[in-house]
Amino acid sequence: MYSRTVVLALVSSALYGQSFGFWPFSVFAESDHSPSQEEDSGVNRVAIIGAGAGGASTAYHLQKFAAISGISVEIEVFEQSSYIGGRTTIVNTYDDPTHPVELGGSIFVEINQILKNATENFGLRRRESETEDNEILGIWNGKDFVFKQNGGGEWWDIAKLLWKYGLAPIKTQRLSRKTTAKFLQLYTPPFFPFRSLSDRAFDLGLTEATAVTGEQYLTANGISGAFTTDIVQASTRVNYGQNLGQIHGLETMVCMAIEGAMSVEGGNWQIFDRMLQASNATVHLNTTVESIKKSKGRYSLTSASTNHESGVTTSTNKTFNTVVLAAPLQFSKIDLEEHMLKRTPDEIPYVQLHVTLFTSLHKLSPAFFGLPPDAEVPSTILTTLPTDSEAPADPKDGVGPAGFFSISTLRTLVNPKTIQKEYLYKIFSPMEITPVFLSGLLGFPIDRSLNLSTLTQESGIPISWYYAKLWHSYPYELPRVTFEDPELARGFYYTSGIESFISTMETSALMGMNVAQLIIDDFEERKLADKGVVEVVQMVLHEDVVEL
Ligand SMILES: Cc1cc2nc3c(=O)[nH]c(=O)nc-3n(C[C@H](O)[C@H](O)[C@H](O)COP(=O)(O)OP(=O)(O)OC[C@H]3O[C@@H](n4cnc5c(N)ncnc54)[C@H](O)[C@@H]3O)c2cc1C
Ligand SMILES: *[C@@H]1O[C@H](CO)[C@@H](O)[C@H](O)[C@H]1NC(C)=O
Ligand SMILES: *[C@@H]1O[C@H](CO)[C@@H](O)[C@H](O)[C@H]1NC(C)=O
Ligand SMILES: *[C@@H]1O[C@H](CO)[C@@H](O)[C@H](O)[C@H]1NC(C)=O
Ligand SMILES: *[C@@H]1O[C@H](CO)[C@@H](O)[C@H](O)[C@H]1NC(C)=O
Repeated sequence: MYSRTVVLALVSSALYGQSFGFWPFSVFAESDHSPSQEEDSGVNRVAIIGAGAGGASTAYHLQKFAAISGISVEIEVFEQSSYIGGRTTIVNTYDDPTHPVELGGSIFVEINQILKNATENFGLRRRESETEDNEILGIWNGKDFVFKQNGGGEWWDIAKLLWKYGLAPIKTQRLSRKTTAKFLQLYTPPFFPFRSLSDRAFDLGLTEATAVTGEQYLTANGISGAFTTDIVQASTRVNYGQNLGQIHGLETMVCMAIEGAMSVEGGNWQIFDRMLQASNATVHLNTTVESIKKSKGRYSLTSASTNHESGVTTSTNKTFNTVVLAAPLQFSKIDLEEHMLKRTPDEIPYVQLHVTLFTSLHKLSPAFFGLPPDAEVPSTILTTLPTDSEAPADPKDGVGPAGFFSISTLRTLVNPKTIQKEYLYKIFSPMEITPVFLSGLLGFPIDRSLNLSTLTQESGIPISWYYAKLWHSYPYELPRVTFEDPELARGFYYTSGIESFISTMETSALMGMNVAQLIIDDFEERKLADKGVVEVVQMVLHEDVVEL
């Protein structure tokens, strides 16, 4: 016999609990089938699609939070590629595993506490910057170097910048700290966890920064002039391939929050690999999720994996209580059952970025940059637009006369074949890097018959090894005030909506941590609700019987 007060307490906790909007419907929708084995065993089966920062962090935190709450979860991760890390991955210079180099996400910073803590907890070794200490930085606008500075990662040493730009650097640093401090509130209650990123962005006053361009945000805060076009824009271009007139104010501030830059020796992907190991998840590599359907309140995933020895593709169907899509929906090519989601995320434009890595005996040619033959060329070249040129209206045409976003001399290496000292370079550009471009860059006569793949084999040719990759690297961060919700349907979560807000390894990891907490909260509330419902139904039946 249940007392009315107990039932009311359960019902009210159910109705007024954080996420109970769906409660009465879900219960009755599912009441037409007998509980499955998974439900009987009380194990919550969770599928995570994508083994990048977002998916790995979801798995890691889900395992942690589940243990705290005494909930048992069984996690399976599906990854279409053959490696863990997604857009955070390395390639081996000279195809030699002792010389790994980042091909995607390369730097995180002190305030990126998920990555930083994970690095410490897993005992991974950190490096301060991608380049060596004797770096000379130059900012080039396609005609002139508008800024030059010696010395490693400290290159926007405020004291040095003051000489040239007055107070603008200090004001920018202050604004960046103020803005990132608001963002950091997302990590802890009452702002964590969040079911609506749009609401939280608004609550924290961050929509002020996302609603306007970087240029407008800086101007509104009393910052303008050469510092913004020389330094801030060079930073938004190297980090996001976008100019200040297009990228929003929040992402602009992220570009200026560079204190305590670091990366993991041997590759940042190791953080995500360790997270997956710690999560005890089953990871299926080379396995593409092709379609998702919902039936009887659960999700059925069809995935395909190809055995690379036999060439045979196997298709598998599996059923889960919960699905996390930890990849941009628009690139996942997953066939979703119609009307399954409350809302389908908008397709948004992504930057198409060519990353070109190569090694050479040669230094960058002064002539390429219009410098006299004996001039020293900076080892890292960022770019900006000339002040007299109109900023392009279409962000996709934003590269301007420089033709690339950055060229970095990462380090010197010994070529294992020739035992000669060479330079390892990395270029970010919106266009494919051609042999003509490379010949000019390294001061070689231009031979239009060359192509990159044969370049390394011919004699008298400037480069000894190269690797190029075209990424959908990050969204065009156009001003906006709404962001996709982390929950697209009951039990169906999405991490990539955060990319239009801030697109970094850390923010994907933050959304993974958020989704993990939402999943646990939803499990707990459902458990409570199911219990509550049983009691309500029994009560109602009982009263009916009595009253009839
Ligand atoms: C060149 C470059 C430089 C960058 N520099 C930095 C930097 O310095 N610092 C920084 O913080 N960030 C940087 N970023 C951004 C950062 O790498 C990304 O924001 C972050 O890695 C995204 O992680 P994610 O898990 O959200 O997505 P992803 O890493 O894209 O992971 C999604 C995964 O899902 C898989 N997948 C997709 N569809 C399916 C399917 N149907 N079935 C199975 N698997 C599927 C994909 O193969 C992929 O592995 C850079 C990115 C690039 C490309
Ligand atoms: C995945 O496929 C690659 C080839 O693309 C193969 O080398 C690798 O062994 C496969 N990995 C697994 C876990 O099947
Ligand atoms: C990271 O570690 C610090 C110091 O131990 C702690 O205060 C913080 O909550 C941790 N952050 C996360 C996201 O785990
Ligand atoms: C890890 O997974 C295995 C197999 O799925 C399971 O038997 C084991 O109990 C799990 N361990 C933890 C700590 O969750
Ligand atoms: C998986 O499910 C789909 C549709 O639900 C079906 O067409 C397909 O045959 C199933 N595949 C396997 C291997 O069971």
